[in-house]
Amino acid sequence: MIRSSELRHSFMLMKWIWTQQMFLCLMVSSTSSLVTVYQPPVVASALGQAVMLHCQLNLTLDEKLLTSPVLYWDNMNTKDRLWPQTVDKYINRVQLMDKNANSLNKSILLTSVQWHDSGKYLCKLSINTEKEKCRKLGGGTSLMVYDTMTFKLTSRNDTTTDLLHCKIKVTRDPALVLSVVHNGAKLKSVHQDAAAAQPSVTLSMSEPVRGRGKYECQLHLNTALITKSSFLHNPLVAEEERDADKNVTGTSSPTVAGAVVFPEPWFLYGSLLLVTITILLGIITIWKGKC
Ligand SMILES: *[C@@H]1O[C@H](CO)[C@@H](O)[C@H](O)[C@H]1NC(C)=O
Ligand SMILES: *[C@@H]1O[C@H](CO)[C@@H](O)[C@H](O)[C@H]1NC(C)=O
Ligand SMILES: *[C@@H]1O[C@H](CO)[C@@H](O)[C@H](O)[C@H]1NC(C)=O
Repeated sequence: MIRSSELRHSFMLMKWIWTQQMFLCLMVSSTSSLVTVYQPPVVASALGQAVMLHCQLNLTLDEKLLTSPVLYWDNMNTKDRLWPQTVDKYINRVQLMDKNANSLNKSILLTSVQWHDSGKYLCKLSINTEKEKCRKLGGGTSLMVYDTMTFKLTSRNDTTTDLLHCKIKVTRDPALVLSVVHNGAKLKSVHQDAAAAQPSVTLSMSEPVRGRGKYECQLHLNTALITKSSFLHNPLVAEEERDADKNVTGTSSPTVAGAVVFPEPWFLYGSLLLVTITILLGIITIWKGKC
C-alpha cells in the first residue's frame, strides 16, 4: 500500500522535473528557437459549419523528434479541453486532421460551430527532441462566428430614394467590420462598440442608392474578406429619359429597381457548341474516309 507521504513525494518530484524541463526549454529556446508551434491568429466560421483550427509544429533541420509529440487543444476562455476529447460538449465535434502520431500537422476540425464557440483556442505540444524536452505553445487562434448575411433594397413610396439594407450577426469583436461598396468604392462601414456582454452582435446599415452599378455588402475580419452579398442595380425605368436614343423594349410593366442579375455565359455556350460541332464534323470525316 502506498502511503500518502510517498504519493506526495512522487508528486513533488514530478512537479520538480516538469519545472526543470520548462526551465531548460526556455533557456534553449531563448538562445535559438529550434522548435516552434504556429497557429494563425484569427479564423472565421459560418454558424453551424465546421472550421479548421490550424496548428503546425516546426522543427529546424538539425532537430529530430525522439518520440511522437503529445497534443493538447484548449479553449482559453472556458478552460475546456478539446483534445484529447474528454469534455461532453466537444465529444464527436472535434477531429484530428492528420491521424499519424508523428505528423507535424496538428490541425483539428471543430464541427457545427455555435455562438458560444467564439473565443481563443490554444494548441500545446509536449515534445521530445535531441536538444529539447518540453511543452511548446502556439500563439492561440481567435475563432469568430458569423451568421447568414441579408442584403436587400427597399423602395419607399414616400420618397424617390431607395435604401440598401445590410445585416449580419457576428461574434462581438472590433476586428469584424461591415461595409457597403458601390462599383468598388466604399460607401460606408459600421464598426462595433467593444462593450456589452453577449457573445454576438448584429451589425446593420442602411444606405441610399447612388445610381446604377454593382453594390456589395462585405464583412471583413481585419483586412480579410469573410463573406459578401452583392447585386446589380439597374434602374431601367428611372434612367429611361436619359437614354432616350436607346429605346428599351419590354419596359411597359414597371421594372423593380435593383433586380438580381446573373450574367449569362453566352460565350461559354457558344464555345461548347463550336467544340461539339467540330467533333461531330471530325467523326463524320473519319467515317467517310473509312468507307
Ligand atoms: C494541415 O492539414 C490540414 C488538413 O489536412 C491542411 O488544410 C493544412 O494546410 C495543413 N497545414 C500545413 C501547414 O500543411
Ligand atoms: C405607401 O404604400 C402603402 C401600401 O403600398 C400605402 O398604404 C401608403 O399609404 C403609401 N404611403 C404613401 C406616403 O404614399
Ligand atoms: C423611341 O420611342 C419613342 C416613343 O416611343 C419614339 O418616338 C422614338 O422614335 C424611339 N426612338 C428610337 C431610336 O427608336
